[in-house]
Amino acid sequence: MYLIKVSQFCLVLVGVASWCNAEKKPNIVMIVADDVGWNDVGFHGSNQINTPNIDALGLNGIYFDRYYAQQSCTPSRSALLTGRYPIRLGYQGLPINPGENRSISHDFWTLPKALKGLGYMNHLVGKWHLGSASKNFTPQAYGYDSHYGYLDGFVSYFDHDIQSDGHLGKDMYSDHQPLTNTTGEYFTDMVTRRSIEVIKNHPQEKPLHLVISHLAAHTGKSTGDMDGVLEVASDEYNDKKYGYIPDKIRRMYAEIVERMDTSIGDVVEALDRKGILDNTIIVFFSDNGAPTNGFFKNRGSNFPFRGIKLSLFEGGVRVPAVVYSSKFKNKGRIYKNLFHITDWAPTLYSAAGGDASKLGLDGANQWTNLVYDSKLVKRDEILLNIDEVEGYSGLIKGRYKLINSTFGDGDETFNNYTGEVSVNRPYNVRKVLMSKTNRALGNCKTLNQEKLLLALRKKMTMPNCRPNVDTLKCPGECLFDLKEDPCESKDISKKLPRVTENLRNRLQIFNDERKPQLNRPVDPNSNPQHCNGFWYPWMDEDGCWFDSHQI
Ligand SMILES: *[C@@H]1O[C@H](CO)[C@@H](O)[C@H](O)[C@H]1NC(C)=O
Ligand SMILES: *[C@@H]1O[C@H](CO)[C@@H](O)[C@H](O)[C@H]1NC(C)=O
Ligand SMILES: *[C@@H]1O[C@H](CO)[C@@H](O)[C@H](O)[C@H]1NC(C)=O
Ligand SMILES: *[C@@H]1O[C@H](CO)[C@@H](O)[C@H](O)[C@H]1NC(C)=O
Repeated sequence: MYLIKVSQFCLVLVGVASWCNAEKKPNIVMIVADDVGWNDVGFHGSNQINTPNIDALGLNGIYFDRYYAQQSCTPSRSALLTGRYPIRLGYQGLPINPGENRSISHDFWTLPKALKGLGYMNHLVGKWHLGSASKNFTPQAYGYDSHYGYLDGFVSYFDHDIQSDGHLGKDMYSDHQPLTNTTGEYFTDMVTRRSIEVIKNHPQEKPLHLVISHLAAHTGKSTGDMDGVLEVASDEYNDKKYGYIPDKIRRMYAEIVERMDTSIGDVVEALDRKGILDNTIIVFFSDNGAPTNGFFKNRGSNFPFRGIKLSLFEGGVRVPAVVYSSKFKNKGRIYKNLFHITDWAPTLYSAAGGDASKLGLDGANQWTNLVYDSKLVKRDEILLNIDEVEGYSGLIKGRYKLINSTFGDGDETFNNYTGEVSVNRPYNVRKVLMSKTNRALGNCKTLNQEKLLLALRKKMTMPNCRPNVDTLKCPGECLFDLKEDPCESKDISKKLPRVTENLRNRLQIFNDERKPQLNRPVDPNSNPQHCNGFWYPWMDEDGCWFDSHQI
């Protein structure tokens, strides 16, 4: 009786809300995690780390199965902003260092600029990492109305500093104004606070585009080493809470990921309180696979996939992703079509009422597929990347993937299977159902949520694949059948020479169209000592500002 009443009540509410919002453009909230692996979210089968809010977003929306990002931060973020492959922009190489003079040409279409044209307010909270040498290279120059956070690749979680070329400096800004009073505040909490402020203060009559770009779960210390996560909570706290995780560093990582998940719940709650949740599209994904080992190792796990951040094996580029919208016709499902990070720009632009068809983007507009659970748009191919300096590239076509040399010339650290999670607990379904996100979104669902969640989760859990040592190196060209062999253990390039040739030809076409990468050495003039210990847009005459006064 009670349940029936509740669902009737909800039906009425939903009806009114969708009627009220019939002519309103949807709000868009994009949440980007940093360096979080396939196996570090609850919905893919990891029981070590609780991500109840992320799991609940997918349960009330869509879980992506074949979602691909770029191999590292800067390339991924350039693809997200422009809807183009990084090779079009010269952004396919290693990430930008603080003090590096690099920027995306202003000739390119960007999503925030286009949304602005449709009346949106655009806000970026957190990481940028697409250029910081001049104010003209920062978020506001590409269509954002505001930016709160850091401009380079990462900062330490409490001190908010980063080292480059031997110089340590702070990187924490609110619209080009250095924040001198935030030291000591945990950055994920700053992200939450600012995001909620943006939502609260947003004028109802305008549509909102909010990108929440987390520091979590990147390492924080500039040594780029595992101690970057050690400062997040005390050892005793983590040992107690995550004692079941044998690896000490992974316990810190688990805490960072869980606190990001909590932040997501708080943001969903804020949207609900504002009364705009029903008309908001919420996207969550990781910018690349976890760097389990190697540079900036955080002990995230991409298992059972092989490879880590920077690799073009599945572990480096196939990442967790979910999307929610009340418009979806069939909720709580798995999206099996290929989806690439470049697809968000045309997909969201189209959701906002824009025409993405004539922009010449690499991304595919998959909005109709997502809303109607249809297969009208077929994305058959993804260029994973071509890095002509490091000398490796890869492309997916249908079920096949061609790898042409590997990052670090087959170095085990980047290309082997790693990060297997040996100790697990039972999956905490109740935590998902009781999460802030599910309480805000799932009220109207039937009792079957628990059953549905477990069934979907089972479908998304990869069967364990075992490495085949014969193909571990993959020194030249390797072909994999991702359908039969998602863990890339058997090179079949000799067995299927025509498929291999077809994919090689496609890769060659992209290679012919590729721009040379724009990476540069660090400019010594960028030294933060010239600006009270802050990294600053040193190429501008008035780059260094403090308390509204030029230094
Ligand atoms: C920065 O890069 C631009 C081209 O991308 C170049 O024209 C300019 O000279 C560079 N400036 C410095 C100070 O290196
Ligand atoms: C920090 O400074 C900014 C402006 O410089 C101000 O808006 C903010 O309220 C300050 N925060 C705290 C916690 O004092
Ligand atoms: C494969 O990689 C090699 C070495 O980086 C490169 O010379 C060649 O052009 C690549 N082939 C294709 C089809 O891109
Ligand atoms: C690569 O990974 C496999 C599976 O974890 C392991 O058996 C093998 O020893 C690793 N190879 C090297 C050289 O580390």
